[in-house]
Amino acid sequence: MTTKRDFLSFADLSRADYLHLIDHSIRLKDQTRAGVCPQPLFGKSAALIFHKPSLRTRISFEVGVRQLGGTGFFITDKEIELGKRETIADVARVISRYVDLVVIRTFKQSDIVELAQWSDAPVINALTDLLHPCQVFCDLMTIKEKLGTVEGLKITYLGDGNNMTRSWIEAARLLDIDLWVGTRPETDPGKEFIADVMKGGKGKVTVTSDPIAAVKNADVVYTDVWASMGEKDKADERASLLVPYQINAGLMSHAKKECLIMHCLPAERGREITDEMMEHKNSVVFDEAENRLHGQKSIMMWCMGAI
Ligand code: CP
Ligand code: NVA
Repeated sequence: MTTKRDFLSFADLSRADYLHLIDHSIRLKDQTRAGVCPQPLFGKSAALIFHKPSLRTRISFEVGVRQLGGTGFFITDKEIELGKRETIADVARVISRYVDLVVIRTFKQSDIVELAQWSDAPVINALTDLLHPCQVFCDLMTIKEKLGTVEGLKITYLGDGNNMTRSWIEAARLLDIDLWVGTRPETDPGKEFIADVMKGGKGKVTVTSDPIAAVKNADVVYTDVWASMGEKDKADERASLLVPYQINAGLMSHAKKECLIMHCLPAERGREITDEMMEHKNSVVFDEAENRLHGQKSIMMWCMGAI
């Protein structure tokens, strides 16, 4: 049996893996648009376990599995009750006797790490409270398509220091990205997390409470909701802190003229980003959503040893 590959965080990828996967994703997108799609998952099954809502991730994985020739089925925590009805280790050992791949969106990163430890089938992180690596991988694909490279760019993340921010920090470590995070000390992504991740890494992460310094001459400005799934009760408190970090025309006038405007979606228009900026000619938010399909198909193929 070949060793399985999990994709739980960017720590699972070497720089060579990343380069290979990004080029593969872009080729796969061209092929798919031309009506050609390899079917390396023919006869294979994938469990898509979602403990939180999803539009993009769920549909792009489900369609992606089908396009690759496999069968994906959606399960919520009502059926499995991971760690409650039975232990995570038992669930992993049962499920991987049925399926060839597990895609999971849940709360604790430690739960998916444990699941992956016990599962014979590869496990893909479809978002946890800590990280959202599939989203950032596909966003890197979008940046490469639009700007030719991600390395050496100034990429700015504005707003709440959340799972998206932390996956960007991991990406900055792997690649030579000059990442700026514009946020308040109360909402930063965690100094210890940054120090741990950046040890021995290539890129640079600067956290600042000055939104203008954060976006000055940026090639890419990125944001996400100020209150993530599971913490919507904090929305008003966060809004009172994070208003200066809204992507709007005034703040964007400090970035490069051609600066890409990015958002993982769903967006709360009028909060972290204005309507005008969502609809701006430099906004690539829907290209990002489209690339979830193509990038994740490559990630699935890589996890299953098909590339
Ligand atoms: N960006 C993203 O992961 O969207 P969903 O929550 O709709 O899957
Ligand atoms: N930070 C957001 C990302 C949604 C794709 C959340 O976790 O809700």
